[in-house]
Amino acid sequence: MDTLISKIDVDNIDMEEIKKQAEILRSGETVIFPTETVYGLGANALDENAVSKIYEAKGRPSDNPLIVHISDKKQIYNLVTNVPEKAEIVMDKFWPGPITIILNKKDIIPKRTSGGLDTVAIRMPSNKIANALIREADIPIAAPSANISGRPSPTRASHVYEQMNHRVSGIILGNDCVYGLESTVLDLTGDIPTILRPGSITKEQLEKELGTVKLDSALEKKEDNIKAKAPGMKYTHYSPNADVYIVLGERFEVIDKINKLTEENDRKNLKTGIVCLENNKKFYIGKTICLGETLEDVASNLFDALIQADKEKCDIIYSEGFTNEGIGCAIMNRLLKSAGYKIINA
Ligand code: TXA
Ligand code: MG
Repeated sequence: MDTLISKIDVDNIDMEEIKKQAEILRSGETVIFPTETVYGLGANALDENAVSKIYEAKGRPSDNPLIVHISDKKQIYNLVTNVPEKAEIVMDKFWPGPITIILNKKDIIPKRTSGGLDTVAIRMPSNKIANALIREADIPIAAPSANISGRPSPTRASHVYEQMNHRVSGIILGNDCVYGLESTVLDLTGDIPTILRPGSITKEQLEKELGTVKLDSALEKKEDNIKAKAPGMKYTHYSPNADVYIVLGERFEVIDKINKLTEENDRKNLKTGIVCLENNKKFYIGKTICLGETLEDVASNLFDALIQADKEKCDIIYSEGFTNEGIGCAIMNRLLKSAGYKIINA
């Protein structure tokens, strides 16, 4: 498939290129575009046929419900039956930005977009390229992360170009994604707001505005998740080719453990990649891939680090672990999935 590639700088947006890509979306085809979270693979959310092309491009038929992206808060009233007060608060406080809300859908949203559900996920991205594209297309855009199914989500222009060129009709190569993890998904259809997927807008931030906020029980039961899994069974989410392990414990116990494991791997001729904080890099004997210094750095660099480990042809990746507080909750959620919940205690 021919792919129209547009390189666009977020600080100097070329509207001619945006218009060409918006026209592709209007004609029922797929376009990859940057957002502040991860790159999205978009199509007209109101056109079932267009939405089917998203799944084809990702390499897997899927009933997963998609997030519908809008460029103006007002558009939500055309898409959902009712906007409760808590939704208004979230929209006023956090939109445009990295949070998605789930509400009851109107019939205009095809079941193909909502994965057969009566609810729909809506988000207004803050990335200026995404906003300009959606505004210019003048239709709501369904967009999952722009990765091949099961792989880490793309957060850099090079990731989408290398993975997705010729699989979609248009690609906008923009700047690196600022947040680097997918949006927080907040279900507002029940009495108590419930986080279905943690992201950069944290539970703590939401509770300040909304009062009690729950984490979906599926997120709380990590231990059950680990125990329930048959040995060797692998979650295929955010997974690089290498086998990923999270090593938990005191700082220097973790470093010693990873160094020992690296030596063992060296003897077996297995290439090790170590995903770590900048400060710890100097203590490791093996190949390190740094996540930066702060938790925000870790969020924005995590998927890139996993993709880099693949490029380095690592067989095994050891990652340091992080706190579950604040944005750490989203980081650990993605890291655990990419590791298939494999944890080593140092
Ligand atoms: O940051 C993001 O959200 C990115 C960018 C491109 O905006 N998009 C993204 O989409 O991550 P996707 O399709 O990879 O993830 C959508 C998530 C899934 O976990 C899906 O199950 C959930 O949102 N979701 C969507 N609609 C839902 C619904 N009606 N009810 C419950 N969960 C829903
Ligand atoms: Mg995804």
